[in-house]
Amino acid sequence: MSEIKPRRAAWEFLRDSSKRDSYINLEIENLHQRIKPNERAFATELIFGSVRMRLRLDDSIEKLIDRAIEDEVRELLRLGLYEVIFMTTADHALVNEYVEVSKTVLGKARSSFINAVLRRACRERESLQSDDGLSLEVKASHPKWIVDAFSLLLEGERLSDELLSHNRGAEVQGVAFETMSEDEGLRDARLPYGHTFLKPPSAISTVKSGASFVQDFGSQLVCEVALATDREKEMKWLDLCAGPGGKFAYLAHHLQSEQLIGMELHRHRADLIRGRVKGYEVLVDDARDSGLPSESFDRILLDAPCTGLGALRRRPDARWRRSESDLKALVKLQRELLDSAAKLVRIGGVIIYVTCSPHPLETRTQVADFLRTHPNFKVLPVERDTIDKSYQSSIGADGMMQLMTAEHGTDGMFLALVQREDQ
Ligand SMILES: C[S@@+](CC[C@H](N)C(=O)[O-])C[C@H]1O[C@@H](n2cnc3c(N)ncnc32)[C@H](O)[C@@H]1O
Repeated sequence: MSEIKPRRAAWEFLRDSSKRDSYINLEIENLHQRIKPNERAFATELIFGSVRMRLRLDDSIEKLIDRAIEDEVRELLRLGLYEVIFMTTADHALVNEYVEVSKTVLGKARSSFINAVLRRACRERESLQSDDGLSLEVKASHPKWIVDAFSLLLEGERLSDELLSHNRGAEVQGVAFETMSEDEGLRDARLPYGHTFLKPPSAISTVKSGASFVQDFGSQLVCEVALATDREKEMKWLDLCAGPGGKFAYLAHHLQSEQLIGMELHRHRADLIRGRVKGYEVLVDDARDSGLPSESFDRILLDAPCTGLGALRRRPDARWRRSESDLKALVKLQRELLDSAAKLVRIGGVIIYVTCSPHPLETRTQVADFLRTHPNFKVLPVERDTIDKSYQSSIGADGMMQLMTAEHGTDGMFLALVQREDQ
């Protein structure tokens, strides 16, 4: 395949992205095949940045032009404006590059328009870069319903820090069960296996054998808190929504194959688990009607399908793909999965309810509703000393844990331990 220049590659990638079903961070490797290695980081920043900052960039476009434009013209202007506002590219280089791209992909007439708009943007660079007068929604470039969701949890500077932290991207965090060489990963003393990966995972030797894998520190913390509820590591565990298997692999490192079963609705995701953890049973089934015998597990990890609002920094387009109507459907599904877990857990057993969303409807409100309808369950408070000091502020007075990206440097994972007391 012939190589193309990064700005054009970025535009083509974004033009086609609405046709794709998966998140763009999962597709970016394909784009990399088409551009020179030394231009890949730039193209990635351009794409991820312009997607994250879409609302902010569209606000600037409105300030610069007063007529309707086609989607493909808008996409090119977003890229150009991303460079004007958030990068340091020199004015003349920037204008020339985008005029060249537009001549090739949009034709001569439109390239004159692109030229005029970007020249004006460069002249007004300082004012476009300023946040003055922008609403939080536009400044942090999040849809209103997501800003509203986070403002149920945080206010003032903490709210804006949190939203802005979703725009910074993230280092690759991972687990290493075997020693990693210093040029591959940097050990993080706050977690038993936590490492910051210094190379792409595909270039790390221990990733191939499954001894290392990408996993956010928040997910590792969740696994540590879960495992700490079984001190002797001799209980019977079920991972109810196990695909693609990151937490299952973490649990399997500590539990024997007779102790741990996984369940996953989608066959291809169950196959991903089987590919990474050999010898453990993984069932393909709907966990709401699992067919498993009731009251047969001591520990049930329910890492529920959720809006993923806690992982926005890792998925640049997630904030635009999710909607409030998804939230409603997911809250209902989570409730049904919790009901099912309640039937499968033994007296004295614990459901470890986890989401990678801090939305109250998916987290504390969901748990409160569950306790109302299941009076034989109570919250088992997370013990502070199961996690490093730097994360302990995530444990609330109610004993539940809510990590936040800005404060803890992790995805916004939520965890509640819910214990069955009696019949
Ligand atoms: C948040 S993900 C779990 C992530 C996983 N614990 C990990 O660490 O890799 C939720 C998973 O639940 C699965 N799922 C959704 N609905 C389900 C259902 N009714 N029964 C079983 N699994 C379901 C999804 O396909 C998805 O793989």
